[in-house]
Amino acid sequence: MTLTLTNIGKTFADGTRAVRPTDLSVAEGEIVSLLGPSGCGKTTLLRMIAGLENPDAGGQIRFGDSDVTSQPVERRQVGMVFQSYALFPNMSLRANVGYGLKMQKLPRAELDARVEEVLALCRLEPYAERAVTALSGGQRQRVALARAIAPRPRVLLLDEPLSALDASLRDALRDELAELLRRFNITAIFVTHDQTEALAIADRVAVMQAGRIEQIGAPELLYRQPASRFVAEFVGDAMALEGRREGTSLQMRNGAVALPDAGAGHLPYVRAENIQISHTGPVSARVEAVTFLGTHYRVALSGLGDNMLYCTHQGDSAPRVGSEVRLAIPTAGIMMLPRSQESAR
Ligand SMILES: Nc1ncnc2c1ncn2[C@@H]1O[C@H](COP(=O)(O)OP(=O)(O)OP(=O)(O)O)[C@@H](O)[C@H]1O
Ligand SMILES: [Mg+2]
Repeated sequence: MTLTLTNIGKTFADGTRAVRPTDLSVAEGEIVSLLGPSGCGKTTLLRMIAGLENPDAGGQIRFGDSDVTSQPVERRQVGMVFQSYALFPNMSLRANVGYGLKMQKLPRAELDARVEEVLALCRLEPYAERAVTALSGGQRQRVALARAIAPRPRVLLLDEPLSALDASLRDALRDELAELLRRFNITAIFVTHDQTEALAIADRVAVMQAGRIEQIGAPELLYRQPASRFVAEFVGDAMALEGRREGTSLQMRNGAVALPDAGAGHLPYVRAENIQISHTGPVSARVEAVTFLGTHYRVALSGLGDNMLYCTHQGDSAPRVGSEVRLAIPTAGIMMLPRSQESAR
């Protein structure tokens, strides 16, 4: 089922512009992640899709060919999974998963078959008769997911479903979830403020800021070609290069680097993996700190501007703290970015 939002916005009674009029389309079977800081409007947008909140900017929400804008929540057939599992504590796991199907008045045999199928897919069979209060957090979240997908929703909405879990469980469940959604070909919107989660799970990521979608695209695109500084800093950590622009070169405190072509109002940004320690590099810096992170070292560098820059360093050993190093910053690794989409217009 495709999902199409046209001009969907929400301003609350107190004047808070939670979601500015927004367009978004999600293809059949696609997983789109809404990624953004707290308060940027993710949950509000999700609630409007579900029918729990009325859009007030005019506009339209369509599931496939049908206009659901004025349909109440119970007719939209959306599945929802939240951070708090919101399971029925007095019911067994099996009864929780079958709840939506019972509401749909599915014949008993079909209901049982569907519950079995979903339990198997979510690897919950061994616990089927248990009370949900006797399950771990990760198991409960799998039950919440199983309950949401059992009625075969037209669209599945997930609002930070993994954020209450500890880190290792979160990673495992994230991969399971992605696999499950793909196997069922479920059209899904996945809200998170964790960039790793968004990049890992989504076909496309929509980065939101202050009620607007700042950029939407495949994870690689957002990372490699962020449309603004906000996106560059929110997805991965990009750092500003400080200095004076002279034509296409940037005069830094301890040397100059060549910049890509860009219009006025664009500033140079770089990611840690694009700064290389190289004895032939044109810029010099002082090593302030070295952190070993398993796959690489993270090296803190001073002397290029007012702020510290960081570079990743592969290899068996890292430069000594306090030593002077030379750096190369290839032009292709520099991103010229406007402050935000709005200021670029
Ligand atoms: N019922 C409401 N009445 C007034 N303002 C609201 C209401 N619900 C949300 N808001 C405001 O709308 C804005 C967007 O809220 P929303 O819950 O959509 O953010 P979010 O991106 O989901 O944040 P978080 O990551 O913290 O969950 C916030 O400024 C919030 O305070
Ligand atoms: Mg929220």
